[in-house]
Amino acid sequence: MSFPDVRLRRLRQSPAVRGLVRETSLEPRQLVLPLFVREGITEAAPIGSMPGVAQHSLDSLRKVATDAAEAGVGGVMLFGVPAVRDAQGSGADDPKGILNVATEVLAAEVGDALVVQTDLCLDEFTDHGHCGVLAADGSVDNDATLERYTSMALAQARAGSQLLGLSGMMDGQVGVIRKALDAEGFTDTLLLAYAAKYASAFYGPFREAVDSQLTGDRRTYQLDPGNRREGVREAVVDEEEGADIVMVKPAMAFLDVLREVRDTVHIPVWAYQVSGEYAMIEAAAANGWIDRRASILESLLSIRRAGADVVLTYWATEAARWLRG
Ligand code: PBG
Repeated sequence: MSFPDVRLRRLRQSPAVRGLVRETSLEPRQLVLPLFVREGITEAAPIGSMPGVAQHSLDSLRKVATDAAEAGVGGVMLFGVPAVRDAQGSGADDPKGILNVATEVLAAEVGDALVVQTDLCLDEFTDHGHCGVLAADGSVDNDATLERYTSMALAQARAGSQLLGLSGMMDGQVGVIRKALDAEGFTDTLLLAYAAKYASAFYGPFREAVDSQLTGDRRTYQLDPGNRREGVREAVVDEEEGADIVMVKPAMAFLDVLREVRDTVHIPVWAYQVSGEYAMIEAAAANGWIDRRASILESLLSIRRAGADVVLTYWATEAARWLRG
């Protein structure tokens, strides 16, 4: 009989020892809650493919944002669902547009307790559903879109957004927006660049959440899911252009990209646990096939372990409450 020289189980012998040697932590402040606000509704409207998530009225939005702040969540990321759309996405930079109005409301309500953040992209506001404006041949026009993004950035900053989530995947978006904000005195407005945003099937439920008008796909601007190097390059370029934070999205199917981005750039790296990731766990849990709470916490911990400093997750408030005990 020969005995093992190395006993790895020594580190796992009790909850106390395991607690001392656990490498990754998960804290409420590391979670950001995405929120949908819809123009013209008076009460929250549930999203069928995202059980537990809703499109909010201004009133219900105030309530869920306050709940998030009380739970210790680090921030809320706001998405707008306008009543009317057009080719230019005019609602996006209109100070009276739903996203900008809701931003003002949240900045006043919870702006001291957490970081109020806004999605900066045209897709919710365009009648064709693309993230940018279209050229005559129907392609997404990068440089014309940058002008729209610049105007949107100023509108959001004026409304009180503390952090702009640049999710449109247009080349040069970080640099031009930074320059425009600085020129208007918004030097403190943070830029989160969705650096490595993949053209993913896991955005499915989100399209319902924002009533997306998209036909076709976003493969001329979002990344090919097969490409890791290219995702890292996007993050490097965004850091050079002046991004304060970079994002990898989706999270769970792209943990290798997340790790490599974390090891490459020198700024915070966030990850977005997207609607399809949420829906999968909720559906399996509803069938009794997995333990809901344990699966949610393990998914969030794993995204942190892979390299995310912060995770955007639709479970932010609930998970924060669990973590606080
Ligand atoms: C587009 C955008 C998308 C998401 C956030 N912003 C989806 C898309 O590219 O169609 C997806 C978020 C999610 O699935 O939870 N601006």
